[in-house]
Amino acid sequence: MISNPSAQENLIKEFDDKLNGIEPNIDDLKNLEYLDACIQESMRLEPPVVRIERRTASKCKLGNIIVPKGTSINIPVKTVHRDRDNFENPDEFKPERFLSENLKKIKPGTYLSFADGPRNCVGMRFALIEMKLCLAKLFQNYRFVKCSETVVSFDFQFFILSLFLLIFELCQIFFSLLSTIAVKL
Ligand code: HEM
Repeated sequence: MISNPSAQENLIKEFDDKLNGIEPNIDDLKNLEYLDACIQESMRLEPPVVRIERRTASKCKLGNIIVPKGTSINIPVKTVHRDRDNFENPDEFKPERFLSENLKKIKPGTYLSFADGPRNCVGMRFALIEMKLCLAKLFQNYRFVKCSETVVSFDFQFFILSLFLLIFELCQIFFSLLSTIAVKL
C-alpha cells in the first residue's frame, strides 16, 4: 500500500464511505470489497506460503506428461502467481483483479495463497477476518508513506529461500533415487 498510494486512497475512501468512522464488526466486512481485493492482491504478489506439496493418488496426465501414482509434486506458488499466462502484468499491484466483476478472469488453480482443493487452508476465513479487522483499524486512523528505512522488495530473501528449497528438493530426489536403487539391489 505504501508503494501504491492510489490504492491506499481507494481503500481509505472505502472505509470512509462504508464505515463512516465506526470500527467494523464481522458483518460489515462483507461490504469492504476493495479491502478484500487489496489483501488477495498483496498475497498474490508475496504469498506467505511459497510452495505447496502434493502426492498423486493415482496415475494422471499433466499436459503431455504422464505422472505415475505416488509422485511428489511441488507447486511453486509465487511462480504460478507471477506467471504472465495466469495474470496480466503479473508484477504490478492491481487489486481490481480481485473485484467481483473480474473474478471470472482468474483461471482455476492459478491463485493459491490458501492452496486449493479438498486440503486447502481450513483457517482461511478466520485469517481473512483477522487481517481485515486489523487493516481497518490501521487505515481508519493512519496513512502510510515511504521513508528512508522502508524496505519495498523482498526479492533477495525470496531468492535465498528458493535456493534453500532447491537444494532441499535435490537432496530429496537424490535420497529417493538412492533408496530405489538400494531396494532393487
Ligand atoms: C494469511 C494466513 C494464512 C495463509 C496464507 C495460509 C495458507 C495455507 C496454505 C497454503 C495451506 C496449504 C498447505 C499445504 O497443503 O501444503 C494451509 C493449510 C492449513 N491451514 Fe492455513 N493459512 C493461513 C492461516 C491459517 C490460520 C489462521 C489457521 C488456523 C486457525 C490455518 C490452518 C490451516 C490448517 C489446519 C491447514 C491444513 C489443512 C489440511 O491439510 O487439510 N491457516 N494454509
